[in-house]
Amino acid sequence: MAIEKATRLKKLPPYLFAEIDRKKKAAIQAGRDVINLGVGDPDQPTPDFIIEALNEAARDPRNHQYALDEGSPRLRKTIAEWYHKRFGVSLDPVSEILPLIGSKEGIAHLPLAVVNPGDICLVPEPCYPPYRSGTIFAGGVPVYMYLTPETGFLPTLEAIDPRAADAAKLIYVNYPNNPTAAVAGLDFYERLVAFAKKHDILVCSDLAYSEMYYEEKTHSALEVPGAKDVVIEMHSLSKTFNMTGWRVGFAVGNKAAIAALAQVKSNADSGIFGAIQDAAVAALCDESGFVRDQVEMYRRRRDALVDGLCGLGWNVSRPPATFYVWFPVPKGYTSEQFCTAMLEKADIVMTPGNGFGRPGEGFARAALTVPEKRIAEAVERIRKLTF
Ligand SMILES: Cc1ncc(COP(=O)(O)O)c(C=O)c1O
Repeated sequence: MAIEKATRLKKLPPYLFAEIDRKKKAAIQAGRDVINLGVGDPDQPTPDFIIEALNEAARDPRNHQYALDEGSPRLRKTIAEWYHKRFGVSLDPVSEILPLIGSKEGIAHLPLAVVNPGDICLVPEPCYPPYRSGTIFAGGVPVYMYLTPETGFLPTLEAIDPRAADAAKLIYVNYPNNPTAAVAGLDFYERLVAFAKKHDILVCSDLAYSEMYYEEKTHSALEVPGAKDVVIEMHSLSKTFNMTGWRVGFAVGNKAAIAALAQVKSNADSGIFGAIQDAAVAALCDESGFVRDQVEMYRRRRDALVDGLCGLGWNVSRPPATFYVWFPVPKGYTSEQFCTAMLEKADIVMTPGNGFGRPGEGFARAALTVPEKRIAEAVERIRKLTF
C-alpha cells in the first residue's frame, strides 16, 4: 500500500530552497570554508549557571516522572514575577500562564485551540513560517498582511478588508520581528488591541526576541490596558539564554485562550521535563547581567556587518533589535540569485527573503550567529565581488 500524505500537508507552500541547501551541503562536504549567516540559532553555549541548575534538578527523582501538563507551580510563579519586573504586567500564575515546549509549539498549536475549519487567520508576510502552517493544519485560511519598509514593517490594520477582519479569528504579530528586525511601539499595540476588540479577534503576539534589543526596551502588547481581553503572548527562552535545543517557552495572557491551548496540549504532549523547568527558573531569575552582555556581543557583530556592507555602498540599515540584518539585495538580482551568488562566489550562506513570504522577494536575511572575526572575513570576501 502506498502511503499518501494528508491534504493539509499538501496545502503547505512549497519549500523554495532545496537547490541552495544542496549547494550549501556540497560546499561544506567539499571542505570549503563556509561562513554560515543562514541560521537563527545562537552560536554561544547555554551559560553554566543554567546547566548547573539542570544537573542538580536531573538528580531529583520527582523530575523523572510525567511533569504536570500545566507546568510546575514554581515555574509559573517565576514567569509571573519576571513579567511584572520586565513589563509591569501582573499575571495570575494559574490561569494566565502556560509553559510550552518551546514557543514554536504554542504558536503552531494555538489555531487548533481557537480556529474552526474555514476561519480566517491574519498572518503577516514575510513571517516566521509556523503562523502559516499552524493556520493551515487547523483548516484555517491565512489572509496575508504585507510588511513593507514604507510602514516600518508593521501591518496597516486600516488596510485590512473589513469583511476579512470581521471573519477573522486570530491575528499573528511578531515584534521584534523575524526576519525584518523591526520593532513595534506601544502605540502600535494600542491600535492593535482596539482593532482586535472591534472585530472580535484573538491577537497572538510573538515575543521570542523581546530581550534582544539594542536601543529602547521592547514592549509587550499586554501593557495596553484591557489587552488581556484579546491577547495571548508567546515567549521563548531559546534566543535569550542560548537554549534553542532545550525546548522551553511560555504563553501568557487571555484566560480562555490559555485554557483552550492547555486542552490541546494535554491531548498532544505530557509536559516539559521537570529538570528543564527548574533550569528555566534559574534562567529567568538571573541577575548576573548575562543577557545584556550577550546583546552587547550581538551589537558588535551587527555594527561590523552593517558598517562593513554600508562601506561597500550597500543599502543596509542598522536593526534596532534581534540578531538579524534584513536588507535589499543588489539591483538586477532576485533574492535567490543573490544568495546563490554569495554561496558560489564567496562561500557565504544567507537566507533569501522570499522564503518568508512573497513580500520578502528582493531582500536577504543575514543572522549574526558567527563571531565578529568571521563577519569581518565575510565583508572582505564580499568586497572582492562585483554585484
Ligand atoms: C519569530 C520566532 N518566534 C518563535 C520562534 C521559536 O522559538 P522556540 O520554539 O525555540 O521558542 C522563533 C525561532 O526561530 C522565531 O524566529
